Amino acid sequence: MTRVKLAPSLLSCDFTRLGEELQAIAGADSAHVDVMDGMFVPNLSFGLPILAAARRATSLFLDVHLMVERPERYLRDFAEAGADGLTVHVEATPHVHRAVGAIRELGRRAGVTLNPGTPLEAVRPVLGDVDLVLVMSVNPGFGGQRFLPASVERVRTLRRWLDEIGSAADVQVDGGVTPENARMLADAGATVLVAGSSVFGPDGAAAGLARLREALA
Ligand code: DX5
Ligand code: ZN
Repeated sequence: MTRVKLAPSLLSCDFTRLGEELQAIAGADSAHVDVMDGMFVPNLSFGLPILAAARRATSLFLDVHLMVERPERYLRDFAEAGADGLTVHVEATPHVHRAVGAIRELGRRAGVTLNPGTPLEAVRPVLGDVDLVLVMSVNPGFGGQRFLPASVERVRTLRRWLDEIGSAADVQVDGGVTPENARMLADAGATVLVAGSSVFGPDGAAAGLARLREALA
């Protein structure tokens, strides 16, 4: 099995120390950046200036999760602010295929995602056009929520569909990922695990990241 990649979610970091937090996770495979618009999800997080600050502070791959209505309006801005990958929600635009194409035209890795209540079939038509499919394992909007167990079967199904079309796209899981469920998610076919509250804990992000790594070893 290929090594599972880890993407700490900056949503749970201490923003007064963003540069140090990024240093602490320098051993990760990417940093996950959660952008929330207060419309698509019932919460606001941050946007372009914070992404640009993160870009100045790290050479890590910046994986931007857009929880934003009509994300196509902002793809170029986020690419220019430093996003290496951009993931859009299938529920947030009637033009998900066009949005994915636009991300690739910007030279960034294209991801698509869906909420826990959205049938997997909604992303099936674009599976051949993406570099990553994100399975939301909580209802998006907040860090620190409990993992939804039905997500495991969704990971398995998506992995199978991707294999069937010969796609090596990543299957990413986001929400409630901990050292306790990481192994199970990897076994189901996840290749990237996002983790916020379980990485940025009281003993620091480097320790949190190490615990996840150990669980996967
Ligand atoms: C939730 C975000 C997640 C969040 C995960 O809407 O998309 O990336 O930061 O946080 P944890 O790992 O604490 O569930
Ligand atoms: Zn996220």
